[in-house]
Amino acid sequence: MVLYTNSMTKMLITGGAGFIGGNFVHYTRKHYPNYQLTVIDKLTYAGNTRTLEPVMDKIEFVQGDICDRELIDKLVSETDIVVHFAAESHNDNSLRNPWPFVETNIIGTYTILEAVRKYNKRLHHISTDEVFGDLELDDPNRFTETTSYNPSSPYSSTKAGSDHLVRAWVRSFGIQATISNCSNNYGPYQHIEKFIPRQITNILSDIKPKLYGTGEQVRDWIHVDDHNSAVHLILEKGVIGDTYIIGADNDHVNNKQVIEMICELMGKGKDFYEHVNDRPGHDMRYAMNSSKLRNELGWQPQYTDNDGMKNGLLATIDWYTNNRDWWQAEKMAVEKKYAEQGQ
Ligand code: NAD
Ligand code: TYD
Repeated sequence: MVLYTNSMTKMLITGGAGFIGGNFVHYTRKHYPNYQLTVIDKLTYAGNTRTLEPVMDKIEFVQGDICDRELIDKLVSETDIVVHFAAESHNDNSLRNPWPFVETNIIGTYTILEAVRKYNKRLHHISTDEVFGDLELDDPNRFTETTSYNPSSPYSSTKAGSDHLVRAWVRSFGIQATISNCSNNYGPYQHIEKFIPRQITNILSDIKPKLYGTGEQVRDWIHVDDHNSAVHLILEKGVIGDTYIIGADNDHVNNKQVIEMICELMGKGKDFYEHVNDRPGHDMRYAMNSSKLRNELGWQPQYTDNDGMKNGLLATIDWYTNNRDWWQAEKMAVEKKYAEQGQ
């Protein structure tokens, strides 16, 4: 069993044409160039091969579905490590049509687990803080590795289901897996349906940014590179069977403050946004306690506190400004879909 090495280890990355998986491919090419990378991605609306264009000649790309047992069996048999990002990932979509979430997040993860079990391969499963449900605004607690699961949406409940499957396969079948639950990511290559890139590309398209409800909700924002540095550390030093919370301590800014920050950083007045319909069942607050990752594995995020978040946002704004080709063709269709929900 190869647990972690830098010398031509084969790594299979599921969902590598999506936001975090795509950034993980770039991060790995830059910091761990000896890995041989294979990406499997179905290229749903959220997958974009242009994300991988700069490295396409240095990786193997397979277009395929993680629910395809034969394909997953073959790809897992040929790799050393599987890093599993592929998922249906957007809450608002899960409220409109839950089925793809059940299929990809649960059956897809099951399919990977069975192949990992058959070939005794190392797996890291990527999950979210949303499996824990939400905290009240005035609750001083943060989510830890032992917080009970209490998901609110079809998205978070299917991610919770996938985490339970991984734990059961560790306990019952002894597979070599770790899990991480991370907070809301931002950075380049994020689909423009998500909060931060939606507002940046709204301003770049002369559309007012859209805030759901009152905007009191709090997300514990983390730059995608900080998430990915943590994943590499877990692959390197994580204890098999363990779960790690990943968060960069940015749980003091609410959605209203984030949208105001974006408006100001983009040279608009602080109030250059409008309120739209709230999300049904909208989670109030997420906050992460990542002490285990920091103390046991020595992880340190780069984009933390107000200045770090501001720098991360500025870099993200620059990226969307300089890469209109990556998002512009989809912009009107995304906004039309939101407008139908009064959002
Ligand atoms: P994303 O929607 O940007 O990307 C998902 C990718 O998976 C896409 O490229 C898509 O084509 C692919 N995919 C979807 N269904 C597939 C299938 N059946 N077979 C193969 N590929 C398929 O999502 P993301 O934001 O990059 O999230 C990646 C992972 O990180 C997910 O597991 C998500 O739950 C988790 N996560 C996300 C965040 C966040 O803030 N975005 C935070 C914590 C955890
Ligand atoms: P989102 O990026 O969809 O992530 P998640 O649902 O996983 O937290 O949304 C982040 C927060 O921003 C969430 O509280 C909903 C809110 N939001 C808006 O206020 N306006 C928007 O246009 C979007 C997409 C989200």
